[in-house]
Amino acid sequence: MNHDGFIGVFDSGLGGLTVAKTIIEELPAENIIYFGDTAHVPYGTKSPKQIREFAINDVNFLRRFDLKALVIACNTADSVARQTLEEKFDLPIYGVIQPASKRAAKLTVNGNIGIMATRATVSSQAYNRAILNVNPSAHVHSIACPLLVPLVENGRFSKDDPVTRLVLQEYLAPLLEKGIDTLVLGCTHYPLLSEAIEDLAKGVRVISSSEAAAFALKNGLAKAGLLRSNGIGVHRYYVSDDAEHFKENAMLFMGNEIAGEVGQVNV
Ligand code: DGL
Repeated sequence: MNHDGFIGVFDSGLGGLTVAKTIIEELPAENIIYFGDTAHVPYGTKSPKQIREFAINDVNFLRRFDLKALVIACNTADSVARQTLEEKFDLPIYGVIQPASKRAAKLTVNGNIGIMATRATVSSQAYNRAILNVNPSAHVHSIACPLLVPLVENGRFSKDDPVTRLVLQEYLAPLLEKGIDTLVLGCTHYPLLSEAIEDLAKGVRVISSSEAAAFALKNGLAKAGLLRSNGIGVHRYYVSDDAEHFKENAMLFMGNEIAGEVGQVNV
């Protein structure tokens, strides 16, 4: 495996940037190729079969580059397509669900863990399995939040946005009633909403699956002796639909212009 190879990161759209952002902060020397399948977002309302097909196409695109690791920066794809990707591609694959589950299972004090995720992720029960594996006495309370990805993709992630707050209040209410002390943002789009979520769920420890994933990648690359430690990494971004729309919202989130052009590709 080549130290200078790219880390391929994919998601259905903007969400995976929350993973890419932490990777860039933690591993500034790494070369990254990001792909957002914006022509097919959202994934979370689609069938497992469809999500698996999208995920295979996403990885086939990323494989045009010399990859040293693949990051499934999408809980939905990680929950239903991971096994398929592992069988089909000979690449070190990192995901979001295992690292976030480990963090939640270890950090909860009262054992009540809330999961906010897409419908597909909640139906897969992937979080329940992964958390109970680490902490069999935990209680996992999940809620599907189908309105959140469209809000984020449309740039509606400010903590002061009244529509976003109302929607979040409705999704959080049943979880707060269960007395959760830990909440997993089980979709990589949701960290864009974390200020609003933290404001509405005071006293609850909020875990970003995106951050957990980036740290798991860092540890994995270090263990494999594959960290690139010198220089500044190259970052390239591709989407399957309008590049300008992606670029504008990506800037809002990344806090500055994303380095390099955003390419549009058909997958
Ligand atoms: N950001 C993705 C996730 O983590 C996908 C959301 C979607 O496209 O529905 O689940």
